Amino acid sequence: MKEILQPPTAAIVQNETKRVRELFDKNVVPSYARFDLVLERGEGNYVWDADGNRYLDLAGGIAVCSLGHAHPEITTALTEQSRKLIHVSNLYYTKPQGQLAKRIVDQIAPGRVFFCNSGAEANEGLFKLARKFGHDHGRYEITTTTDSFHGRTLAGIAATGQEKVKKGFAPAVEGFRQVPFNDLDAMRNAITKSTAAILIEPVQGESGVTIATPEYLIGLRRLCDQHNLLLMFDEVQAGHFRTGKFQSWQTIVASASGGRSDHRQDADATMLPDAVSMAKSLGGGFPIGAFWVREKYADVLSAGTHASTFGGTPLGCAVALKIFEVIERENLADNARETGAFLLGELQKVQQRFPNIVKVVRGFGFMIGIELQPEFKAGEIVKQLHRRNVLTVPAGASVIRLLPALNLRRSEAEEGLRLIESLVRDLAREKK
Ligand SMILES: Cc1ncc(COP(=O)(O)O)c(C=O)c1O
Repeated sequence: MKEILQPPTAAIVQNETKRVRELFDKNVVPSYARFDLVLERGEGNYVWDADGNRYLDLAGGIAVCSLGHAHPEITTALTEQSRKLIHVSNLYYTKPQGQLAKRIVDQIAPGRVFFCNSGAEANEGLFKLARKFGHDHGRYEITTTTDSFHGRTLAGIAATGQEKVKKGFAPAVEGFRQVPFNDLDAMRNAITKSTAAILIEPVQGESGVTIATPEYLIGLRRLCDQHNLLLMFDEVQAGHFRTGKFQSWQTIVASASGGRSDHRQDADATMLPDAVSMAKSLGGGFPIGAFWVREKYADVLSAGTHASTFGGTPLGCAVALKIFEVIERENLADNARETGAFLLGELQKVQQRFPNIVKVVRGFGFMIGIELQPEFKAGEIVKQLHRRNVLTVPAGASVIRLLPALNLRRSEAEEGLRLIESLVRDLAREKK
């Protein structure tokens, strides 16, 4: 006989939420300030909590869930590859890793790809690349920028230009210094005989969505050419078609020529970095990171100099390949650009209507920062949006970020706008 499932009662659900929280309180390292939500499942651009409440997900797992939740083609890629081969180590060749590397090379320019598991690990690869590159000439220093974020490893926090991530972890890994972002003179003045590389995020995400100017990027390229330095971009958050092109620097550089031409040609004609780190959206939720290095420097990390047990497993690469395929087939880069432009434009209208609540709205594609007036704390506003059934991400003190999946529909964007606008309107009413 078929079992009849009754929905859980409110009391049972509350107990369940409490039990999950207790598990965390007793057993999980408390290094995250978590929101009071127990999320249980997702589908497309929605997730559900343990109480059965549905939320529109404009956070995308912090720019990770490139195809939303429970995408059937990801499930198929996972199950089919796991039936064949999950892992064998990098002592051997596997087809998915080679194919994924080619996909990435084809999107940037001739070069090679190293696979790892996260953004911080991809950046560690860049740090080692720069050290090895400069080693024979006694050069080791990497210049980064203030308000940047490059991950939570020891070298990652040394590279990061935010004091709060470094606090309590002295002594810092040597060889990193920060200069103001979008300031070419500051970068030029920071170059010493020890400098080996420059590393920036073309769009600073964690500190509140600040975009590099095309002149800055092109100027950095010239500086690196003049001083024989590696130009390295951290595209962990802004990359993978989020801004309308594969990597955000390609969108920024193309914007200088009206955004019309093919990004690969733009990159070749005006600028190409020497190395790029990526992670997050690459695996759509499956942990995978990578860095691309230009052909000229492909041999700097020679056999035996760098490795990762789980880097580039057949399973992770099969998922990432499927994500590339779906993004291409469904023109999701165009969707990110167009639906993102719609969201940005509408949010800027909200800003104009409520300037005493919203200071500025900036970004491009599906990477948008809503900066509120300083009396509003980002974390509090994100919580208030939870009560209106929408997920967003705090950044810096008073910026909330929208980093949705690349397949967010126009109707879902409109729903998000309505929810955000209703909160802004209520805040304006309360402020009177
Ligand atoms: C620009 C940037 N670099 C690196 C990282 C670190 O990535 P992960 O958390 O995967 O180590 C992040 C994470 O937010 C990031 O935004």
